[in-house]
Amino acid sequence: MNFKVGVIRGDGIGPEIVEEAVKVLNKAGEAFGHTFSYEELLLGGASIDAHGIPLTEETVARARECDAILMGSIGGDAKTSPWYQLEPSKRPEAGLLKIRKELNLFANLRPAVLYEELEGACPLKPELTQGGFDFMIMRELTGGLYFGERKTVEENGVLTAYDSLTYNEKEIRRIAVRAFDIARKRRKKVTSVDKANVLDSSRLWRKVVEEVAKEYPDVEMEHMLVDNCAMQIVKNPKQFDVVLTENMFGDILSDEASMVTGSIGMLASASLNDTKFGLYEPSGGSAPDIAGKGIANPIATILSAAMMLRFSFDLDKEADAIENAVAKVLKEGYRTIDIMSEGCTQIGTKEMGDKICERMQ
Ligand code: NAD
Ligand code: IPM
Ligand code: MN
Repeated sequence: MNFKVGVIRGDGIGPEIVEEAVKVLNKAGEAFGHTFSYEELLLGGASIDAHGIPLTEETVARARECDAILMGSIGGDAKTSPWYQLEPSKRPEAGLLKIRKELNLFANLRPAVLYEELEGACPLKPELTQGGFDFMIMRELTGGLYFGERKTVEENGVLTAYDSLTYNEKEIRRIAVRAFDIARKRRKKVTSVDKANVLDSSRLWRKVVEEVAKEYPDVEMEHMLVDNCAMQIVKNPKQFDVVLTENMFGDILSDEASMVTGSIGMLASASLNDTKFGLYEPSGGSAPDIAGKGIANPIATILSAAMMLRFSFDLDKEADAIENAVAKVLKEGYRTIDIMSEGCTQIGTKEMGDKICERMQ
């Protein structure tokens, strides 16, 4: 079959890591008899440079025509990049938030998987992680603080800034249903994370999640306060299956979770709406500190491409082939610098992409 994939190369390391994911996708296509046609789209800093704004209406329209989108990270160094001289609504990140909202990508899946082979790259004590772990952060992506009313006012010479956190029942229900559906296909446990001891939005979150949980008697549900969750991720990551949470908590917890899997360069992500369409991107940023050096880890982007095959195109075998190839290369001891440990062979971004392609033979 032929699939039309929108490609947003992004900024910083974005183009380097996307190149490897495209290579791996093409390899999977060759091996299984599919073709991918690519539609190049601009978002973030690259779009500001070309059009003066981080996302154009034309790009949104072209994105809608694609079957799915593969994206590298966007953004730059806030201290040195001219993009951050622009008003906040014209900066790279505003483009990312806009495309998530425009395409209604409310469900963000971030799989935190510690491959057994990477136990050496995990900063936790070996007894906590022996045998690896595998949990899924289900982050609400189009509500909460990111999309609430925002303003800065000056009263009597004093500046006050407001960011409001709102959720309605419908927004909570649809993400909760997704989380329970996914848990049903996994180890049947949902940990719903909130701050219900302080926030009204979290108390509503809890109420709605409890209603949804009643529809899934076969799935165990527990509530956990977000501060405790942050601690439990480093204390006992194996306890989690699906972690369901709101936008900002999910952003922070997923970076924390990435580090216990060895590196932010390992954490894939899928942003989904109610259809088969999805936007697939690594969870980490554009890493301006290592951009252009050929050392970034492309695995999160490659695993995001595998998620695209699985969720948007129903190509499970093909996704398995990519994931197995990644595991093989890690087993053979090849590492980018961020996951390097003693006795392993350090390779660059391109070599990692090549090795993964070779192992898919
Ligand atoms: P970052 O994730 O870019 O970098 C944090 C650290 O992780 C850096 O030391 C970086 O070198 C390292 N790192 C990240 N990805 C890596 C990879 N694939 N391989 C090896 N090391 C990797 O976070 P930041 O520095 O806070 O943000 C930089 C820019 O990225 C900002 O403009 C931010 O807004 C943007 N950002 C974009 C996205 C996205 O597009 N989804 C996500 C997060 C941050
Ligand atoms: C992420 C990023 C984005 C977010 C930024 C760049 C707006 O950190 O995808 O995790 O906070 O959602
Ligand atoms: Mn983030």
